[in-house]
Amino acid sequence: MKTAYQKFQDHVEKSLHSGGQERIQAQHARGKLTARERLEILFDPGTFEEWDRFVEHCCHDFGLDKQKPLGDGVITGYGKVNGRSVFAFSQDFTIFGGSLSETNAQKICKIMDKAMETGLPIIGLCDSGGARIQEGVASLGGYAEVFKRNTIASGVIPQISIIMGPCAGGAVYSPAMTDFVAMVESTSYMFVTGPDVVKTVTNEIVTSENLGGAKIHNSISGVANLSFPNDYIAIYEITRLLGFLPSSNRDQPPQLSTNDPIQRDDSSLDRLIPENTNQPYDIKEVILKVIDNRDFFEIHPLWAENIVVGFGRIGGKTVGIVGNQPMILAGCLDINSSRKAARFVRFCDCFNIPIITFVDVPGFLPGIDQEMNGIISHGSKLLFAYAEATVPKITIITRKAYGGAYDVMSSKHIRGDVNYAWPAAEIAVMGLKGAVEVIFRSEKDNLEKITELTEKYREKFANPYVAASYGYLDDVIMPHQTREKIARSLEMLKNKSIINPWKKHDNIPL
Ligand code: HXC
Repeated sequence: MKTAYQKFQDHVEKSLHSGGQERIQAQHARGKLTARERLEILFDPGTFEEWDRFVEHCCHDFGLDKQKPLGDGVITGYGKVNGRSVFAFSQDFTIFGGSLSETNAQKICKIMDKAMETGLPIIGLCDSGGARIQEGVASLGGYAEVFKRNTIASGVIPQISIIMGPCAGGAVYSPAMTDFVAMVESTSYMFVTGPDVVKTVTNEIVTSENLGGAKIHNSISGVANLSFPNDYIAIYEITRLLGFLPSSNRDQPPQLSTNDPIQRDDSSLDRLIPENTNQPYDIKEVILKVIDNRDFFEIHPLWAENIVVGFGRIGGKTVGIVGNQPMILAGCLDINSSRKAARFVRFCDCFNIPIITFVDVPGFLPGIDQEMNGIISHGSKLLFAYAEATVPKITIITRKAYGGAYDVMSSKHIRGDVNYAWPAAEIAVMGLKGAVEVIFRSEKDNLEKITELTEKYREKFANPYVAASYGYLDDVIMPHQTREKIARSLEMLKNKSIINPWKKHDNIPL
């Protein structure tokens, strides 16, 4: 008779390969790692503690009572990522396609609850065919339990999803509610209904890749924030992202030691802004030159590229960075860039991450398409996000700050803490040409007069000193001073404490 220890070993062995060798090989043949291999890469060696490995589903229908794989299609637990504790679940496509059963949902909910109680981040490695079809409403209920927890955990602990396989149905809503969604190129898909259902219902023929591949969701829909070529790089980059984040809203972001002196001034910044104000330059160059060791983790690099958002550090401490990108649409704010930056600003505010904003914005993008699709509501999301944020906010106007976009981009009026401008800044209601055409319409045929008035307007507004004279700017600084000025401001603001009035929650124009 087997001893208790032998039985235990048998159980453990079975739980490690419950999907079977054939399906593991199929997973590898698709260029995907298994759920267990992914966790091995995610966590520091030897730190993963698995929970619920002997859990089985409770379904008796459609022959499932004869298939009871241990663990039931999801591996859950916690471990260390670069020395910090993190919870994770990894859906196992080799077991019923990683589909979500009632018990499988209970496993995920158990670690979500514990992550909330302990104030630790949670990462989902997603590879799932959605609701376990054989279980019917029990599985839908399981999803709703997960969704409820995603909602309640939002803003309390960082939630990150990596989509690593074909995720369908309910399998996409939970990631969509998390803070960051990364996808693996060529092997991951996200859709509410797959190509077959689309064909049946709408008669449209489309591939999985074109319906919900990494490229679609990273550059067109904006559902995903990050895209990586394979499982290894995706997991590595997410561990890098975690390094910028606090474990919960009760903590401050990690403070790292840095060999990059805050006094480092980069004189090349003084030559960056072209003399011709309509000529673009790359705002990422400014960002890289200002932050520690050029270490920038960009979020949403492929979507709404007219605004750049991401994490960096100054003096070893995490900052969230938002910058208009003059290289794309001249840096105008439009629907997608407003949504992108608003969500990022709100994330930073939830998690005590100071926000540095680089402004070079000629205004909101004009156009029928923008108006018809609600630029008013979407643009106001960004205004709302900045205005409600209570974390330290430092703003640097590098060049243009025109119109409503001046107000929106963390201006003094919406509680910017420290507002600087570079000497080439132009702060006005609108650009020269537009302004002169409106206010001197009666002179439009008098070229000489128009030229004279344009010059007058330029003289008056195409500089930072009018705003500075009102105190809307705290100072005008040379570009090379930017890093040190930000560092000093952050130091001064480190104990900043303002509290918005009590409310159940706000009503951001969603
Ligand atoms: C049970 C499932 C399953 C599911 C896949 N499998 N999805 N089992 N429930 N939802 C099983 C398959 O039967 C198969 O079992 C194994 O997983 C691998 O699936 P394949 O189809 O062979 O793999 P592949 O060709 O790669 O296709 C993957 C897939 C496809 C695109 C995910 O399986 C698929 O379309 N599945 C159904 C997706 C779906 O419609 N889900 C329900 C959504 S409704 P064997 O034994 O053959 O290996 C939903 C409602 C929630 O989620 C709503 C909440 C708001």
